[in-house]
Formats: sequence, structure tokens, C-alpha cells
Amino acid sequence: MLKIAQIGVGYWGPNILRNLVENKRCRVTAAVDLALERRDYVHRLYPAIKVTDSIDDVLQDPETDAIVIATPVASHFDLAMRALEAGKHVLVEKPMARSVAEVEEIGRLADKKKRVAMAGHTFLFNAAVRYVKELIDSGGLGNIRYIYSHRLNLGRIRTDVDALWNFAPHDISIIQYWLNNATPISVVKRGVDFIQKGIDDVVFMNILYPDRIMANIHVSWLDPNKVRSMTVVGSKKMVVYDDVADNKVAIYDKGIDRMAVLGKDMDYDNQRFPAFNYRSGDVLLPKIDFQEPLKVEIDHFIDCIEQGIPCITGIEHAKKVIAILAS
Ligand SMILES: NC(=O)c1ccc[n+]([C@@H]2O[C@H](COP(=O)([O-])OP(=O)(O)OC[C@H]3O[C@@H](n4cnc5c(N)ncnc54)[C@H](O)[C@@H]3O)[C@@H](O)[C@H]2O)c1
Repeated sequence: MLKIAQIGVGYWGPNILRNLVENKRCRVTAAVDLALERRDYVHRLYPAIKVTDSIDDVLQDPETDAIVIATPVASHFDLAMRALEAGKHVLVEKPMARSVAEVEEIGRLADKKKRVAMAGHTFLFNAAVRYVKELIDSGGLGNIRYIYSHRLNLGRIRTDVDALWNFAPHDISIIQYWLNNATPISVVKRGVDFIQKGIDDVVFMNILYPDRIMANIHVSWLDPNKVRSMTVVGSKKMVVYDDVADNKVAIYDKGIDRMAVLGKDMDYDNQRFPAFNYRSGDVLLPKIDFQEPLKVEIDHFIDCIEQGIPCITGIEHAKKVIAILAS
């Protein structure tokens, strides 16, 4: 059984810790947090888990095989490098680090030490996101034309990173997954800081991929509504993935085909008599078997360590996400 320690049990960390505790394939050796209040919290909930404020306690513990890092972004690189140096596998919350160079360095050390380095891009373990991926890969949507996403809410404001670095790792990671980790041709973004100087509250990012596929990302923690939705427009069908809806995926048999008015056959090249055929067919709400994404993510981390399978959110994926964030 794999023995895993966790560093950072703040806002998000408790979700990871609960999943580690519930997972029968691993045992939690310790939880590390600098804040006494968070250590007390863990102790109250899980009295059997050792709590400490010193990461050396887990780095030097020969019992600990792997470490999950759920601290603020600025500490990810240093903690991941120290963990790998100590021979531990690492699962680092998103975004894995602050630059592509840092991710590359983590990757080099992981290779040297023959250890797994995985990023916590949770949405790639979400059944709805995977369903849309299968739909795209099977050609069910036709050629992908454009994708847009909204990740909005009133809060939760961060003081260490802006809304782009906090939220957009999710959208970028999902889009990269759907588009088979394609390399963008160009990225443009614009954000504005209203609440804290130098920390954007709202950001719009536009990415152009090969084959004229366009992606648009809108993130904000200064918005009246909680919105978590992504739309994919294909030449055959269109899909809306809404993470806060009961039916998370809706497939629209909709589209517009150009055809000539003269003649029975479709004639896309005939510019003289353009006509448009609006297709508006059924809407399918597929039944998707859902498991908590964090459970699937932790199982994947354990599989990568135990079976040596490639991490779907490994260094290559993390590098692309950070390259887009940082462009
Ligand atoms: N995958 C997701 O859906 C998701 C959601 C929210 C946050 N996150 C990520 O999780 C990470 C943590 O975010 P959060 O919102 O929980 O932050 P947070 O600030 O609420 O919690 C971080 C915790 O880490 C502790 N800490 C900081 N530095 C430490 C160190 N060197 N050693 C030990 N403990 C340390 C702090 O005391 C705090 O309790 C971030 O990378 C964030 O992007 C991921």
C-alpha cells in the first residue's frame, strides 16, 4: 500500500485529504501545514493522522513514498524539488509552477530520480469532460470550429495570483485535453485589476490553434453568478458542458450548411446563389456515470507510480498549460 503525505490543508487541501483517507490503495502518513489552525483542523477530523509544521518530517520519513502539494503556487516549485530530491513521487496542485522553466526543472529531476511528477488538473478526471473528449475524438462533432468557456463567480479572491492564474489553468487544461495538446499559434489576453492593484479580477484570453480553431476563456471572481460552462461548436454538432447543471453535457444537433439554391447537391463553392440550411435537430442529454474527480485523480496518481503508466497531467501537459498562461 502506497504511503502518502500531504503538504497544505487550507481551502482546497481538505478535499484532497478526505480522498486520500478514503482511498483503500494508500495510507496517509502525515499532514503538514504552517498554520496551527489548519493542523488543529486535521487533528480534530482525523486524530490518527500525524500533523506537523515541518516538511522535513515527511521528506526524511523513509515510510513516505509520495507527497501531495496543496500550498499556494509560489511554493510549488521549491516544495516539489525538495520532495523529488528526497526520492518522493509528487502530485502538485495546479498550476504546477510559475514558469515553463520551473516545470521543466521539476520534470528533469523527476526523470533523474525515476519518480512521478503529476499536476493536479482535476478536470481531466471529470467524467463530463472525458465524455466530451470521446465525442470530439470519435468525430461526433465534426471539425471543431471554436470553444469558449466562462468560469465566473463572486469570489473567492486570492491575494497571491490573479484570476487568470487561479481559474484559467482549468479551462486551458480542458481545452488542451480536448485538442490533443495542440500548440497554439497565438495567445492574446486582457485583464483588469479593480480590487487589488496588480492582481486582475477579470481576464479575457483568446487562443488561436492550427486549423483555425479558436478558443476564448473568460475568468472572473467579480461576477454576480457562479458560471462554469464551456461550449464547443463543431461542423456537425455543438456541445455545452455546464459543470453546475444537473445535466452536465448537452449535445445539440445544430449547424448551418451552405448550399447552392440551384441544383440538388450541396455546392460549397458556388458563390453566386448562396443559401443557408439551418439544421436544428434534437438535443441529447447523455447519462454520464459520475465519480468524484479527485478520487479518479488520486487513483491515476497511484496507477502512474505502481504501474509506470504515463500521467495524463504529467510534465508535458503542465508545461503547455503554463506556457499558455504565461504568454
Ligand atoms: N484543483 C482544484 O480544483 C483547485 C481548487 C482550489 C485550489 N486549488 C489549488 O490548491 C492550492 C492551494 O489552494 P488553497 O485555495 O487551498 O490555498 P490556501 O491558501 O487556502 O491554503 C494553503 C495552505 O497551505 C499552507 N502552507 C503554505 N505554505 C506552506 C508550506 N511551505 N508548508 C506547509 N504548509 C504551507 C497554508 O498554511 C494554508 O493552510 C493552489 O495551488 C490552488 O491553485 C486547486
